[in-house]
Amino acid sequence: MADAPTGDSKTSARPVRILALGGSTRTESSGGEALRIAAEGAQVAGAQVEILRGRSLIFPLYDAETAERDDAVRAMVEAVRRADGLIVVSPGYHGGISGLVKNALDYIEDLRGDSRPYLEGRAVGCVAVAHGWQAAITTLQQIRQVVHALRGWPTPFGAAINGSVVRLSDLTADDPITQQLHLVGQQVVEFARMRRAHGGAS
Ligand SMILES: Cc1cc2nc3c(=O)[nH]c(=O)nc-3n(C[C@H](O)[C@H](O)[C@H](O)COP(=O)(O)O)c2cc1C
Repeated sequence: MADAPTGDSKTSARPVRILALGGSTRTESSGGEALRIAAEGAQVAGAQVEILRGRSLIFPLYDAETAERDDAVRAMVEAVRRADGLIVVSPGYHGGISGLVKNALDYIEDLRGDSRPYLEGRAVGCVAVAHGWQAAITTLQQIRQVVHALRGWPTPFGAAINGSVVRLSDLTADDPITQQLHLVGQQVVEFARMRRAHGGAS
């Protein structure tokens, strides 16, 4: 996604950087669409957004026995390292985060030795898409728990979407779900700006 005009010019030379990752391996992934819309919210709020969606998250299984990383994993870890905030979207698989998304998040372990370890100082907008409310909600809770464990700050507003009652690719700009996803992206940017205003690393 291209750089957007930003409202950050008064406070810093560079825009807030947001990494949006998630979705599923399906071409028509509804989670991928939710990711796009939440990222749009961050971009409209003035952030520079990088998207790692679906199949671009097909990484080797995280293996604690080796520090070897392929280029795609290294690129994702670098993208997390430079991000001021993240958006994470997972489908609900059997009531929880999909293996694809959790495996990608496990590689954040590679940031443990950083001066800003794991997700410290970063807000994370959390979104879950499932075929029913139960898994949408339990998956959203899981994403938030993982973000907490990684020392990140789940945004106050998270989105739990039931894909059986809405088709994300058909959403209009004024649909409440579009607005909810935009709010997730906006809150990530808002937190990054607050941190910056108070002397934080972003
Ligand atoms: C392996 C698998 C497990 C799933 N488990 C659940 C589930 O427990 N509850 C639910 O509501 N939907 C479940 N679903 C449906 C997905 O959450 C739903 O279709 C979601 O929108 C898929 O995301 P995608 O469109 O980004 O691929 C499952 C789908 C798959 C493929």
